[in-house]
Amino acid sequence: MTELDALRQRCLQCTACPLARTRNKVVFGVGSAPSDIVFVGEGPGQQEDLTGEPFVGAAGQLLDEMLSIIDLGRHNCYICNIVKCRPPQNRDPMPEEQDACIGFLQEQLRLLQPKIVVCLGRIAAMRLITPDFRITREHGQWTRRDGVSYMAIYHPSALLRDVSKRPETFSDLLSLREQAKALGCRQYE
Ligand code: URA
Repeated sequence: MTELDALRQRCLQCTACPLARTRNKVVFGVGSAPSDIVFVGEGPGQQEDLTGEPFVGAAGQLLDEMLSIIDLGRHNCYICNIVKCRPPQNRDPMPEEQDACIGFLQEQLRLLQPKIVVCLGRIAAMRLITPDFRITREHGQWTRRDGVSYMAIYHPSALLRDVSKRPETFSDLLSLREQAKALGCRQYE
């Protein structure tokens, strides 16, 4: 068993926060490991909770389309979330829930060794880039920390609600591809 598999097994049994009581399935993450590019969303929705896989609902379909624009897919990158269990009624995960869960993400990132982490939406950006992150102003900007490049793009759910944000996201995706090439990410070899 790989270390990542062992981590998944621990995560599947986690009862560290109240979300464990209402979840159907833990949504640990999917993709290649190690991975030079990791996408981090906010938390599972209804479809994800039922299937155990991240981004399989309507937002997930859009994410797949966004990835395919820059020649990425679930097989050659990694996709996970800040919290691994569904917050009821799709509310934002609470700070205590994020605190209880963040250790799993930190371990995932240690094992995946990404060169690039892309935050999908405000919640992930506030947790991974800076607590006062403003998605409307700061999406598409690169931040480098501990040898890893971070960027946030709009969450696919936001792009479903507001199509006027899509052109900016297209530019952000092109910037992601450029950065990934510049950093020698294996996806573009
Ligand atoms: N939204 C998220 O942030 N994550 C998912 O896995 C699905 C929808």
